[in-house]
Amino acid sequence: MKCFPSLLFASALAFSVQANETNNVEVLHWWTSGGEARSVDTLKEMMKREGHVWTDFAVAGRAGESAINTLRIRALSGNPPDAAQIKGPEIQEWGKLGFLATLDDVAKEQHWNELVPRRVSDFLKVDDHYVAVPFNIHRVNWLWANADVLKKAGVEPPKTLDEFFNAAEKIKAAGYIPLALGNEPWQEATLFELIALAILGTEDFHKAFIEQDSDALTSDKMRETLHVFRKMKQYTDINSPGRSWSDTTSLVIDGKAAMQMMGDWAKGEFLAADKKAGKDFLCIPAPGTANQFSFNIDSFVFFKNGASETSESQKMLARLILEPEFQREFNLSKGSIPVRVDIDMQDFDPCAQESMQAFLRAAATDNLVASLSHNMAIGRASQFALFDVISRFFNDDNVDIDETMRHIRAAVLADKL
Ligand code: GAL
Repeated sequence: MKCFPSLLFASALAFSVQANETNNVEVLHWWTSGGEARSVDTLKEMMKREGHVWTDFAVAGRAGESAINTLRIRALSGNPPDAAQIKGPEIQEWGKLGFLATLDDVAKEQHWNELVPRRVSDFLKVDDHYVAVPFNIHRVNWLWANADVLKKAGVEPPKTLDEFFNAAEKIKAAGYIPLALGNEPWQEATLFELIALAILGTEDFHKAFIEQDSDALTSDKMRETLHVFRKMKQYTDINSPGRSWSDTTSLVIDGKAAMQMMGDWAKGEFLAADKKAGKDFLCIPAPGTANQFSFNIDSFVFFKNGASETSESQKMLARLILEPEFQREFNLSKGSIPVRVDIDMQDFDPCAQESMQAFLRAAATDNLVASLSHNMAIGRASQFALFDVISRFFNDDNVDIDETMRHIRAAVLADKL
């Protein structure tokens, strides 16, 4: 990993001589909101039933940014946890440095090759060895709406960006916050991503952010994306600075705000508050992105811990995550869809069923996109730089669009430096 090279590697090797052959597994994760905690509790319970001890190391905040920083410090001091929530290209970065234990045994025993879609399993391997276990598939491009507020404002759920702005005007006039947004860089970047998906379309989005094509990164469509992004600010409220994503979702749940554009972990909050999909709240594809699926896959990796390559508790944890019972229970409350292709979706609500259909449709039409704002498309260096540029632009009307496009291009290229 570019940001902490040989020193970390040396610490990891030092650590690997310490044996840890207990039935304890320390897990570092960031699932602390109401919906997230409920979902991960299922796994803690299952580990307990199997006779293993889950030692919780939860670090709240900023969609994992705080947890990952803590993980780096732990790893630097030669004391990584047994398991940690890491995803996307970062799995490669940790794996290439030699930190991660292989899960090939469990993968073989549970037939991961057949159970997990190829687009997902590509993220889980380093040098063709499994080093991560996936939980789910989150769709990021959703708009969540309070059904009652829309009704009171006399608007239909918006399908396009134009419809969104028309609706937002009416909602504002009716005295509600049109768009719930927490003023944290990652939440702003999530909104930016969803507008970019709609305006650039899948092909140009891919060209810009995955192929890092300079023309696509500074195109007229990118300019339009920034313009629309800035225009949305007037529909957010003044109390957004520093507000967490789940407190932001609560504004929609409580009927203070009409809509939030956020991944489907937001649904976990509605469910934890006992709200019903289709009745109390609506899930609509983010305006202009009905055919696309921006995916975000949660996964755990396991750190090498000395005596044996992978301890029995680590193996048990990996195994349980892909067990059908857990896949069902966890995803029912987390808001995502199961990562196993063979889970019956009958008990899932209409949002999850639509998500599964959208995933299959997008896969068949080449409209699956790795989420830009959720560590799936670019590495940490680029992501931090991009968050910074996007947030600065959103929060200061004096920041120039052309200059911002040049900075976006530099940020996307930062991974290569
Ligand atoms: C995402 C993560 C989700 C959800 C969200 C907010 O990055 O993949 O599972 O927890 O952060 O915490």
